[in-house]
Amino acid sequence: MVVSNLNLKPGKCVDIKGHVPEDSKGFAINLGKDSSAIALHFNPRFDHHGDVNTIVCNSKDAVGWGQEQRETAFPFKRGQKTQICIHFDKEQLTIKLEDGQEMKFPNRLGLEVNMAEMLLSDHRCPAFS
Ligand code: GAL
Repeated sequence: MVVSNLNLKPGKCVDIKGHVPEDSKGFAINLGKDSSAIALHFNPRFDHHGDVNTIVCNSKDAVGWGQEQRETAFPFKRGQKTQICIHFDKEQLTIKLEDGQEMKFPNRLGLEVNMAEMLLSDHRCPAFS
């Protein structure tokens, strides 16, 4: 799924709700200008790329992936609904998980107002990963 022209203003929250399939290996929410300029790749992995129950955050520019940031919190469960909320300012993106925990990721690409495009993918579907 790609959401374009998301009129995302600094300080405002993008609220994302979804249902995690029973057989999900992981899913990713990408926030950025387009698929080669991803300011935030938020990637909870149930069992993917050698990671078990780990959230991997990263950014991607024309050169490629940046340095990964790994989180210890992992409130996601297969077969359950989930909700996260993302907001950003010039310096950082803040991801609020449904259990109230917050994590921060630096705004390396300088994600700006009206420049946000959002992509959601589920790693069950290679076409979207
Ligand atoms: C890679 C993976 C990408 C992305 C990236 C994040 O190993 O293939 O889909 O998750 O890690 O650093």
